[in-house]
Amino acid sequence: MIDVAEMQPRAAMAKKQFDPLAKEIFTLKKQLNAVILAHNYQVPEIQDVADYVGDSLGLAQQAAKTSAEVIVFCGVHFMAETAKILNPGKIVVLPDKDAGCSLEESCPAEKLAALQKTNPNFWTIAYINCSAAVKALCDVIVTSGNAVKIVEAAPKDRDLLFVPDENLGAWVMEQTGRPMTLWQGNCYAHVEFRRDAILKMRAQFPDAKIVVHPESLREVRDLADAVCSTEKMITFCKHDPAKKFVIVTESGIIHRMQKECPGKEFICAPTFNVMQLPTDNCRCSECKFMKLNTLEKVRDCMKNLAPRVELPENILKRARLPMERMLEISAR
Ligand code: 13P
Ligand code: SF4
Repeated sequence: MIDVAEMQPRAAMAKKQFDPLAKEIFTLKKQLNAVILAHNYQVPEIQDVADYVGDSLGLAQQAAKTSAEVIVFCGVHFMAETAKILNPGKIVVLPDKDAGCSLEESCPAEKLAALQKTNPNFWTIAYINCSAAVKALCDVIVTSGNAVKIVEAAPKDRDLLFVPDENLGAWVMEQTGRPMTLWQGNCYAHVEFRRDAILKMRAQFPDAKIVVHPESLREVRDLADAVCSTEKMITFCKHDPAKKFVIVTESGIIHRMQKECPGKEFICAPTFNVMQLPTDNCRCSECKFMKLNTLEKVRDCMKNLAPRVELPENILKRARLPMERMLEISAR
């Protein structure tokens, strides 16, 4: 995650470039006393105006401690909702209200509530990629950065129910040895990575390390040198002696990797339907939801203070409990 200490150099750098849109955003940020939080999958120009760029865990931690009055969340809708849950009294805006997530869509709150009724001993663990209404039904939230730690800390006498990502859930079961009932949801972007395409990359770049996000299928995770959250991917690439990495996640992350790991080469993994290697064409995976955000929309949401996240009081209150539990266990 980009630390607050880097905020000024980032701002200065963008100003130096005299990008009028970036300048407008910096002016609005001052006027509103706003903070701009951006996920690692955002387009480079959004990352470059953000105060913090990170994974879901880092962004939630930043949202929990910000003193800004307005939070501009450049990611997808459930992330902005998470910031609102942690800051019920603040204004939270996002560039595009339609920036959803296939995992969130896969798990409607009513269906989860019905499943929970089938076993009163369920302890429900929700991946942060779900709606506020789903969070409000859960015992604890996890991200890909802390899921193993949090599942290890789950009560031993309860039956674990993990929603909504069956692939992350399966990986966490492998890591912890704890059986869990898995909700049948997935990230539509990550399941496009397939074994055959990754094997081709390995053959073509034998000295490259393969770094995989745990939302990917097991057939792909099994080929990895490292399986981790987007933030840990960046840390891994920084510290590993290898000079070349095949990155199996959304391509937006390459921007930070190139900036923070000078002298190293990052190759976007191909998705299963793009098998000609190598070409000069982009063969990377993009999340269509993350990519709805543009710099113009960031400026507009700050100007209009809309679209704005609003949630019913009861959901805000109930969803805060598992979020706080997550932050507390993460900090141990
Ligand atoms: P992390 O950044 O937490 O690894 O999550 C990836 C993701 O898909 C977010 O939607
Ligand atoms: Fe959801 Fe996948 Fe996009 Fe992340 S990359 S926001 S999990 S659809």
